[in-house]
Amino acid sequence: MSNPSHSGQPRDQSAEKPWGGRFEQATNEFVERFTASVMFDQRLYAQDIRGSIAHASMLAKVGILTADERDAIVNGLQSILADIRAGNFTWSIKLEDVHMNIESALVARIGDVGKKLHTARSRNDQVATDIRLYMRDVLDAVDGLLAAVQQALLTLAEREADTVMPGFTHLQPAQPISFGHHVLAWFEMLVRDRERFADCRGRTNVLPLGSAALAGTTFPIDRAYTAELLGFAAVAENSLDAVSDRDFGIEFCAAAATLMVHLSRISEELIIWNSQQFRFIDLPDAFCTGSSIMPQKKNPDVPELVRGKSGRVVGHLVSLITLMKGQPLAYNKDNQEDKEPLFDTADTVMDCLRAFADLLPALEVEHERLRDAAAQGFTNATDLADYLVRNGVAFRDAHAVVGGAVRLALRRNCALEDLELAELKGLSPLIGEDVYDVLKVDKAMAARDHFGGTAPNQVRAAVIRARERLNAKFGSPS
Ligand code: ARG
Repeated sequence: MSNPSHSGQPRDQSAEKPWGGRFEQATNEFVERFTASVMFDQRLYAQDIRGSIAHASMLAKVGILTADERDAIVNGLQSILADIRAGNFTWSIKLEDVHMNIESALVARIGDVGKKLHTARSRNDQVATDIRLYMRDVLDAVDGLLAAVQQALLTLAEREADTVMPGFTHLQPAQPISFGHHVLAWFEMLVRDRERFADCRGRTNVLPLGSAALAGTTFPIDRAYTAELLGFAAVAENSLDAVSDRDFGIEFCAAAATLMVHLSRISEELIIWNSQQFRFIDLPDAFCTGSSIMPQKKNPDVPELVRGKSGRVVGHLVSLITLMKGQPLAYNKDNQEDKEPLFDTADTVMDCLRAFADLLPALEVEHERLRDAAAQGFTNATDLADYLVRNGVAFRDAHAVVGGAVRLALRRNCALEDLELAELKGLSPLIGEDVYDVLKVDKAMAARDHFGGTAPNQVRAAVIRARERLNAKFGSPS
């Protein structure tokens, strides 16, 4: 390049742009790099080629291409696909994006007939189609991974239905609960996440192709046929909207950010539970790493990273929604910025789900330790109050009586069940010998015996219902 710092470079015939016709000067080298997207959108190659094959097939169906022309184009595209997969394809920044790289390669391979592929099409509807195809693949992969995590959670909940642990509010011991019940709370979060992704898929699975640059095309295209070939459930109603809006990507990022917040909360609990102070669980060695200085360390890196990665996904949601704001109809180059946040969101979510699907079945639960912890911090105080209510005391009065019992036990440095019957009777004459049974942690857990409660038999019933719900909503999991 003679003078790369100026925009006025001489015309460079060797790197002719598909759109170069009206330009007198070659693109400034910096601008070329600044405006290019091929560095990151080359990941869309498979979707781009799939879309082009469907487009060429449609053009042949309506008589815009001959069958021979279509075959030459389809074969050329397939050979390009094979070469890209084999790593034998050179991407060029001069050709800006994945679309023009592939189109130029097609013309280089099959000659002038390749130049007919872009009839009745624009990169604007092409890229919108590619992203929707890509998002659909991602949504299907995410759904499969979510299903795997859900299965792992149900197995764990079933296994630990009888395991008693302290339930917390404000991270203070509150009431004894089933470990399985806690795990089922995580499961419910993921049920809603999966529904959000499924809902997003419905609005993503719509064909933009045929919208061309913004207004449609002068050719007699058959969009329903293209949609059928690509497996889209519907054809976009409005060409301006179809080439411009990326709200399906925003929805995906919003669902992903919500999922990541759930995974982050679960991670936080795993990290706390795995700490030396709690020792509720033991994370398998394979999911932890050591310290380069402190030989005793076994750090819960995997859940820590999942918790940390929630930040970037929330960030991508903010990027994408802000990207859309203020864009006039129809397509603007701003939209090229949609890809990196979408790709990174997809990669991050899939990695984190994979980590969870692998880690959860390997979780070791410290039953003794959980039982000890469940019995501490007066977690049976509500049970004593409920006992009084069953014996005729109004709940507010019972609450006050138990408050007195807790004060007494604190003075004695003992648990409620360690108080003498005479001491308890001193607080309320309605307390009898049978109170000690009520105060046992297992009894307290089993007493919450209704739909949605923590009693182990309710947990087991909830697991059965959960499996049925998954089958009904998402088809039979293998
Ligand atoms: N690389 C572009 C993008 O990602 C493709 C569409 C470009 N269209 C255009 N008129 N410049 O959005």
